[in-house]
Amino acid sequence: MPALDYEPIVFTPRTSAPKLTPIQEEILALKKARNAVILAHNYQIEAIQQVADYVGDSLGLSYQAQAAQADVILFCGVHFMAETAKIVNPGRTVLLPELDAGCSLSDSCPAERLAAYKAANPNVYVVAYINCSAGVKALSDVICTSGNAVKIVNQIPADKDILFVPDQNLGQWVSQQTGRQMRLWPGSCYAHVLFTTQAIEKVRAKFPGAPVVAHPECVQAVRDLADEVCSTELMVKFAKESPATEIIVVTESGMLHRLRKEVPHKTFIAGPTDSCACNDCRFMKMNTIEKVRDALKNLSPVIDVPEPIRVAALAPIQRMLDWSKR
Ligand code: 13P
Ligand code: SF4
Repeated sequence: MPALDYEPIVFTPRTSAPKLTPIQEEILALKKARNAVILAHNYQIEAIQQVADYVGDSLGLSYQAQAAQADVILFCGVHFMAETAKIVNPGRTVLLPELDAGCSLSDSCPAERLAAYKAANPNVYVVAYINCSAGVKALSDVICTSGNAVKIVNQIPADKDILFVPDQNLGQWVSQQTGRQMRLWPGSCYAHVLFTTQAIEKVRAKFPGAPVVAHPECVQAVRDLADEVCSTELMVKFAKESPATEIIVVTESGMLHRLRKEVPHKTFIAGPTDSCACNDCRFMKMNTIEKVRDALKNLSPVIDVPEPIRVAALAPIQRMLDWSKR
């Protein structure tokens, strides 16, 4: 086995959380003054996770967004996530710290292309991974997240001809888990496809016995070597329940902050790519602590969704939220 070209990134057990900085204190005061709630995805930087009222995966965040009573929802994640919050809770002001925080997966399926595909294949039943635009959601039959995709697809009548958009890797994994044949849209997450078996094996050689947990957006070869494939929230559950004290985490590196907070006595090793010891999503990392402060100060940038699209997109999201509870 060739040696590693870089040192692995290792999060060791920590007994106390870092103290809040002045800018974090300022954010907490602004949050109160604005009657705001801060929802943050697991991939956000630690400083943002620390000031959030809720940190979680796309599914948990959708439920939280729908239930939010505050005047303002500051969504620390990427654009499609904030858009989803607006769709399920239109009465609130939804803010995203950085308007350009997009998603390569969402971009790989423009609504116009999906509309053209549906026009040519009118009988397809569209299952859309939540990582897509409001326009794509509006054209879909049901939405899913990585946390509930298997459960959702299992509830679709057997005679439906399923088109899964936009992630071919998640779609392939769901197809393998459910035994359902599906047409797969050829999209992918630019960050998760960077993980390779060769890089992970090199780290595994340094931490023999450490199980590998991987996100289903990874390519099949990586999923195949993993001990567990699951959404980011289920990674927390896996880390709590596994007897292992060292775990290799093959997803965006912000996840390690969440894991260290929830399971402080264990060691987490960042999943590597061929060129780097960890893997940051450049879109998720566009949100900075300063932009979080400024968003609350200026009540901007605001996320809005045209009402006809919002109403059309809400139906498949609500179906997902209902089916997910069954
Ligand atoms: P989760 O829903 O598992 O948090 O995934 C979201 C995401 O963007 C993965 O890249
Ligand atoms: Fe999109 Fe991938 Fe970033 Fe998730 S990690 S937001 S799928 S680009």
